[in-house]
Order: sequence, then structure tokens, then C-alpha cells
Amino acid sequence: MSKKVFLSGVQPSGKPHIGNYFGAMKQFVDLQNEHDGYVFIADYHALHSLRNPKEMKENIKNVLLDYLAIGLDPKKVTFFKQSDISEHTELAWIFDTIITMPYLMRAHAFKDAEAKNKEIDVGTFNYPVLMAADILMYGPDLVPVGADQKQHVEIARDIAEKFNNVYGEGSQIFKLPEPMILKEVAIVLGTDGRKMSKSYNNTIPLFAEYEEIKKCVMSIVTDSSGGIPQNVYAIHKLFRPEEELKKIYAEKSGKYKELKEMLIEDLEKFIAPLRERRKEFAKDIPKALEILKKGGEKAKIVASKKMSEVREKIGVNI
Ligand code: TYM
Repeated sequence: MSKKVFLSGVQPSGKPHIGNYFGAMKQFVDLQNEHDGYVFIADYHALHSLRNPKEMKENIKNVLLDYLAIGLDPKKVTFFKQSDISEHTELAWIFDTIITMPYLMRAHAFKDAEAKNKEIDVGTFNYPVLMAADILMYGPDLVPVGADQKQHVEIARDIAEKFNNVYGEGSQIFKLPEPMILKEVAIVLGTDGRKMSKSYNNTIPLFAEYEEIKKCVMSIVTDSSGGIPQNVYAIHKLFRPEEELKKIYAEKSGKYKELKEMLIEDLEKFIAPLRERRKEFAKDIPKALEILKKGGEKAKIVASKKMSEVREKIGVNI
């Protein structure tokens, strides 16, 4: 029996944080032995927030190093860069023609932007359609993501269904993917108790140096009610079993500084080996770029085959 397939991506929009890692990236590593994997850098998605070409280039290289440093194995997973596979944007256009504006207006990201009275670019509005193309192109069974991406995977399923109904003539051209969201890490909280997010400035970077870890942990917002500092605990439970942690927090009730110091040490223990691995990969950027190029060649074969099928189905192949 052929292996199941997973697919996921990360935007090169800045430094990844432990929310990205526990919410999604760790699952890529865990899945790679039993599954065929596609993992990519969603650079076209990042364009809606990043308009500095120098920074874009740096960030793309950085995400590549991040993927390698967390242990993704290019022999097991196809790595690529979204913009190298032009079939994604082509397929997104075709999906655009079968999906309605009122449907996309129900997307959380659009509604949030609208509520904030932001001037919304078409790319932001269309974000879920490009994401549907990213996913459906490779027919994955599973899409490991954090809870904030759940609706996007649901939209991809709806688009697959709609396309199959319109053009499938009874056959499934696109497989319906399942989101894979682990309950305990669906929403990793940040240093202020809200969802950890670059845009809230409440992150702990995944490859932080010791001093940076210290600074982040010391900035964790605590209330003055004594007892257990919830925001410290919420991050700490990513690194120790809760049974053990509950005892420690009960024993050290009210001793916020000691608990924070302990979290710093636990974070350092976890991050230091990742940081070192990343530094090793960073010594040979051309080699890392070659991995991306090879992965792109593999992904291109799959994507162009799928697009031939799609072009045939919609009738533009004459
Ligand atoms: P991005 O780059 O914002 O985030 C990468 C992954 O990290 C997860 N995540 C979190 N999980 C738990 N707690 C948090 N605080 C947290 N913050 C981020 C995200 O859910 C995501 O899984 N649209 C995607 C990129 C993308 C994609 C795709 C993903 C483009 N095409 C196709 C999967 C399949 C994004 O912006 O992720």
C-alpha cells in the first residue's frame, strides 16, 4: 500500500517562534518517517505583508535553514519554494473562477482586516484560494497546522468539492485533505497570554540565543495574585510533563522569579542543540539552496502532471 501524504508550509515573514514549532513544524518531523511529505516556503503568501526584496531573500534562506535544523530530512520530504512552482498561482486563478466573493468574505482573516478598517489588498482577500491550490495540487491526506489555519484547510476542502462537482464527471480530481491539529498545541500562547504571533510581538524565537530567551521569559506578563503565573505555566508545559510541572508550581507557589528562571533553563536546554544544528547548516548555504532546487524539481513534476489533468478537464487543452 502506498504511504499517506502530508503537506504544509510556513511563510518567510520573519523568525519562526516556538508557537510555529509546536503548533505545526514539529509534526512535519514526526510525520516524515511514515508519510511522503511536501514542505514548502510560502513566499508568495508572505508578499502581502513583506515588500522588502532584501528581507524576503534573507527570510527565505532562513526558513530553509530552520526546516533543516529541526530535523526535516530532504531524503524523506520534498522541500520547495512556492514561487518556483508557477502551477500554484495558475491553479489559484482557476479556483477563483468557481468560488464566490461572499464565500471568501466569511474568512476570519478577511473579517479581522475589515473590522480593523484596513485597506485590504486583493492578495489578502484571495489568500485562502492560493492556499487551496498549494494543498490540493499534491493530493495530501493530512495538512498539519495550528488552529489559526483550520478554516483555510476547510476552504480547500470546499474548493476541491466544488471543482469535483463542476468538472469531475463523477470522478475525484482533487482529494479532500484533513487538517491535522493537535489539541494541546493548537494555539500556543505568547508572553502576554494571547496567541503567540509575530504581529503581537509576544514570541519566543525558536532559535533564540540565551540572552534573548532570558529577555523574552522575563517579559512574560504575570498578575500579582500570588499563586500560579498562568502565562509562565502555559509556555512551560511545552517542555515538561504537566504532572511534574503541577507539583513544581504548587511547591513554588508565588515564587515567580524562580519559576521564570527554571523556564529559561528548560528553554535553553531545548533550544541550544537546535541552534547549534542551524549554525552548522548555515555554514554551507549553497548546499542548502541545492536541496531547495532539487525539491523544486520534484514538486514541479507532480504539479505539472496535475495541471495537465486540470487543463484537460476544464477544456483548454485543444
Ligand atoms: P504561518 O507561517 O503563519 O505559520 C506556520 C504554522 O505555524 C502555526 N502557528 C501556530 N500554531 C500554534 N500556536 C501558535 N501560536 C501558532 N502560530 C502559528 C500556523 O498555524 C501554521 O501551521 N497560511 C500559512 C502558510 C501556508 C500553508 C499553505 C500552510 C501557505 N500555504 C498550505 C499549510 C498548507 C501561514 O501563514 O502559516
